[in-house]
Amino acid sequence: MIEIKKPTLKEVGAMRNLLRPEVERGVILERTADEIANAIRSYNVAWEEGEIVGFCALHIHSPSLAEIRSLIVKESHRGRGIATSIIEVSLKEALGLGVKEVLVLTYQRTLFEKLGFVEVSKEAIPDHKIWADCIKCKYFPICEEIALIKRF
Ligand SMILES: CC(C)(COP(=O)(O)OP(=O)(O)OC[C@H]1O[C@@H](n2cnc3c(N)ncnc32)[C@H](O)[C@@H]1OP(=O)(O)O)[C@@H](O)C(=O)NCCC(=O)NCCS
Repeated sequence: MIEIKKPTLKEVGAMRNLLRPEVERGVILERTADEIANAIRSYNVAWEEGEIVGFCALHIHSPSLAEIRSLIVKESHRGRGIATSIIEVSLKEALGLGVKEVLVLTYQRTLFEKLGFVEVSKEAIPDHKIWADCIKCKYFPICEEIALIKRF
């Protein structure tokens, strides 16, 4: 059974290990242990049988805008709705915090469209996101990710 809950700092190493293959493929940006620890309260982590099988972060950019970041599900566990459940929990959290819009930059259009996200122009991406994150990506500035937003 999948359980989704907040991680503790003990989980930082396991979270980085889960990200590693996708970081190597250039699909997800590397996050240092300190970066994950700084943002530990923003994550929701899925567990199955004592093992972390996926997570994402809900990063707050402004009083109205948040972003889904670092969404990952362990390869052996994909296609079972785990990402969908993690995103739903993060959206509920966003709503509870009073966020008005949740942004995601992704290659996974269908997954997010099914959850009510709609594609927007990349102009909607805050400048500080580009300069803090995108610039670290090996595909910058020729990036094929699309931006989608869910509005509450
Ligand atoms: C993208 C990613 C997180 C999706 O994880 P996932 O747990 O497989 O996602 P879900 O199972 O919720 O949805 C994936 C598909 O399985 C389908 N699915 C959902 N529940 C299902 C179920 N119970 N049984 C079978 N299939 C199901 C969904 O319809 C979806 O199909 P779609 O591709 O047509 O949308 C995962 O593939 C991953 O970690 N990829 C690498 C990193 C990445 O791309 N991250 C996104 C950055 S934003």
